[in-house]
Amino acid sequence: MTADNRSKVLYTVICGAGPAGRIETFVTLANERGWEVCCIATPAAMTHFLDLSDLRELTGHQVRHDYRREGDESFPRADAVAVVPATYNTINKWAAGITDTYALNVLAELTGLGIPIAVLPFVNTALAANRVLDRSVDELRRSGITVLYGPSGFRPHPPRTGGTALDRYPWHLALDALEIRLPPVAAAVIVENAKVLLVRRLVQEGSLSWQFPAGEIEAGESAAEAAVREVREETGLSVIESQVLGERVHPSTGRTMIYVACEVVSGTARVEESEEIAEVEWLERGQLGEYVPHGFYEPVQAHLDVLLAMNADDSQRSS
Ligand SMILES: Cc1cc2nc3c(=O)[nH]c(=O)nc-3n(C[C@H](O)[C@H](O)[C@H](O)COP(=O)(O)O)c2cc1C
Repeated sequence: MTADNRSKVLYTVICGAGPAGRIETFVTLANERGWEVCCIATPAAMTHFLDLSDLRELTGHQVRHDYRREGDESFPRADAVAVVPATYNTINKWAAGITDTYALNVLAELTGLGIPIAVLPFVNTALAANRVLDRSVDELRRSGITVLYGPSGFRPHPPRTGGTALDRYPWHLALDALEIRLPPVAAAVIVENAKVLLVRRLVQEGSLSWQFPAGEIEAGESAAEAAVREVREETGLSVIESQVLGERVHPSTGRTMIYVACEVVSGTARVEESEEIAEVEWLERGQLGEYVPHGFYEPVQAHLDVLLAMNADDSQRSS
């Protein structure tokens, strides 16, 4: 989720090269990782590679290729941009400041706004041998753009082997690169009376269904402050931080997560933000496997093991 609780929006700029014919692979992967995808196509991508109606159905949005006309939908604001596949033509024109396609104009503006952008080229070794491509890649990198080109990114293939190169096109690299640049998320781990507080979001985050109350850390906020605020906003419960349990890149969403153990001060947990949260539940240890089948991050699990055992002892003593 983003700071203002929208799902995160990924503009996907599609240029006219082979992988454009398989763009559904990328959209599906991005959806699985919790992105809402809005596609922008170059004229060459439109003419040679895309099935617009399929893509519209898959993304839930029109595919934009030109300036907005009356009746066209307006896209939600972009949190990040992926240029997949990026052609020799678009990379060189973008770096040279040319905006003679709608896609290039969007790229120029979003570059200027400092929105995170990842570029995954698809070029053969004949095009790659032109010095201008290296100059353009360097120019874009200087503008803060992540160009996934070279040993740890896309490696050019020999001419006439583009067909086989498609099978190993590393789509995931564009998402990995963007997710690292999004603000980290603070999650609140709260145990009371031998139960853990979990929420279910209206919009599923990747493969996650039930999860800790959580949200993006805002500018000037610590992880603990963000966790306490998110619990209040999502469930109405007032909590204080007791301990930061650990930090990791989440294997399902790719987001940096900071887990903060919190203690309840006052209030009753309920759905406070109904446009974002569907359900709030206090769960016993025995229910956790069913609600969170993929398990918890190790330091979080260790914390839960200790507290759930302690709380269970307490509640047995008091009953
Ligand atoms: C079938 C086909 C395959 C192409 N493959 C590539 C490619 O792999 N890489 C590339 O940079 N251009 C490739 N092109 C050329 C681009 O489509 C062409 O340079 C076009 O002007 C790119 O425009 P765009 O950058 O606005 O999408 C291909 C064109 C066609 C028709």
